[in-house]
Amino acid sequence: MTFDPELRLETERLTLRPFAVDDVEAHIAMMSDAKMAKFLTDDGKVRSYGDEWRAAASYLGHWHIRGFGFFTVEEKATSEWVGRVGPWMPGGWPGLECGWSICSKHWGKGYAPEAAIATIKWTFEKFPELERIISIIDPSNRNSQAVAAKIGEARTDETFDYSPNLKLDIWAAERKAWLARFG
Ligand SMILES: CC(C)(COP(=O)(O)OP(=O)(O)OC[C@H]1O[C@@H](n2cnc3c(N)ncnc32)[C@H](O)[C@@H]1OP(=O)(O)O)[C@@H](O)C(=O)NCCC(=O)NCCS
Repeated sequence: MTFDPELRLETERLTLRPFAVDDVEAHIAMMSDAKMAKFLTDDGKVRSYGDEWRAAASYLGHWHIRGFGFFTVEEKATSEWVGRVGPWMPGGWPGLECGWSICSKHWGKGYAPEAAIATIKWTFEKFPELERIISIIDPSNRNSQAVAAKIGEARTDETFDYSPNLKLDIWAAERKAWLARFG
């Protein structure tokens, strides 16, 4: 699949662009924080540099395989790298997901919902046949649940067996209702 590496989405406070080679080390640095790893790794612990390098490679590769993927999020005011947010559907995933991770020093500013709304709008425009977008969230991840609720997703009764010991909730937003509210 092709994509435009120069693609840019703008929100009031953020610039979003396709995850790129230059984002690999910043992403690894974000993930070296135990607060980040809690809900993002199989055992809730910080992964090794090598594991995180391979994870970042998968974010890059996802754009090439699917033509979409996580956007790097930058703060307009400072050009600081603040996280990654956006559409993601690796093989075996239960649907097209919008995912979000923001460096802990920037939590609480509403950056995740602001970026997620922009990327979901972009995703619905890119895929006119897409009827719903999901987010896969640990039942105890209150921060992420708060983001999902703010961006118009609701918890479904569906779950996803992420790994043998980890069952995650599926939250979802339907295209028509979502666009009526945020489009
Ligand atoms: C989930 C996450 C992306 C939210 O990003 P954000 O930009 O802080 O989002 P918001 O500012 O809307 O805050 C969301 C909730 O986080 C909580 N929160 C806010 N500031 C916080 C802080 N400084 N410390 C801890 N939690 C905080 C609040 O409950 C808030 O909800 P509220 O606004 O209704 O009170 C971020 O916490 C994160 O990256 N967590 C680690 C990775 C992760 O869990 N990703 C999601 C996997 S499904």
